[in-house]
Amino acid sequence: MAKIILNLFFMVISVLTFAPILCLSSKTNYNGYLYPQFYDWSCPNAKEIVKSVVAKAVAKDPRMAASLLRLQFHDCFVKGCDASLLLDSSGTIVSEKLSNANRNSARGFEVIDEIKSALEKECPQTFSCADIIALAARDSTVLAGGPSWEVPLGRRDSRDASLSDSNTNIPGPNNTFNTILTKFMLKGFDLVDLVALSGSHTIGNARCTSFKQRLYDQYSGFNLPDFTLDPFYAAQLSIMCPKLGGDQNLFFLDYVTPTKFDNNYFKNLLAFRGLLNSDEVLATQNLASLKLVKLYAESNEIFFKQFAKSMVKMGNISPLTGFKGEIRKNCRKINN
Ligand code: HEM
Repeated sequence: MAKIILNLFFMVISVLTFAPILCLSSKTNYNGYLYPQFYDWSCPNAKEIVKSVVAKAVAKDPRMAASLLRLQFHDCFVKGCDASLLLDSSGTIVSEKLSNANRNSARGFEVIDEIKSALEKECPQTFSCADIIALAARDSTVLAGGPSWEVPLGRRDSRDASLSDSNTNIPGPNNTFNTILTKFMLKGFDLVDLVALSGSHTIGNARCTSFKQRLYDQYSGFNLPDFTLDPFYAAQLSIMCPKLGGDQNLFFLDYVTPTKFDNNYFKNLLAFRGLLNSDEVLATQNLASLKLVKLYAESNEIFFKQFAKSMVKMGNISPLTGFKGEIRKNCRKINN
């Protein structure tokens, strides 16, 4: 009897000791969960490699931090965080890069390519493009002065893309408050996530075409500027964005500290100096939202904490795990 109990004891101990190791050393995420140590055995230097390529790219072009951060949003809101955004058109695939939100706008794909080729040299066909997006978003935020978070890993890459979902799911700058909130809620987010994540507009640029309507014809056909836009700020914007032409000209989303990730974005909203209509509505259309804008404008710390939490939540939207999808060799195309 004592021998049986002793054997059982050793069995339990060995299962408890080796199961996590087997799990961590595996290239396949069988349990369906994402966890930060996913590549610790299969590609231990991966996180450092991603960080160094992102750092190099941001040093060369500070806006790149914003562009890489945005990729996570535009990927995860379309079929989940599966790197479908990175696929170029080919065969039956119509690239999401052609959607309204991405066309002439989404950028950073060359940086993702550079990270991928460095990782393929280090550990071939191991590290997914979807996980590169998630890590690059975090590293970019930190480089711009924002919060850090542990990135759960183990996503796999899709074998298809959806241009129509990209057109439907990603909110547009002229969507109403209710439409934007609904689009977020359909992905499992609440108002707190929406307001905190919109804070990413503390860095990066927007083209005139994304906010021009506010300067000249906010109320469709009445030729009036948006009355929730500060007139002095509007005058500055109209120099860059004349009524005719200049649609691709760029303006900072946060004109006070354009490359610094901070809570200035929320201070701008309270001064009616949000750049996009979708920014300003957070402070003008809903009392609960305004309360959050005020809270984040008062406390960088509370904003940072919530932003990090909501980014992890975003990274968890319908990841492909286990035997679903694949690990692409090249982020722009599916494997043969
Ligand atoms: C709430 C709804 C949102 C709308 C309507 C929206 C819309 C936009 C638009 C129109 C631009 C400028 C694009 C251009 O003119 O080329 C932009 C830029 C940007 N967006 Fe959003 N966005 C939203 C939420 C988010 C979220 C959740 C994130 C990230 C977590 C994000 C990150 C960014 C960044 C960083 C930029 C600047 C990109 C660059 O400079 O390359 N946005 N967004």
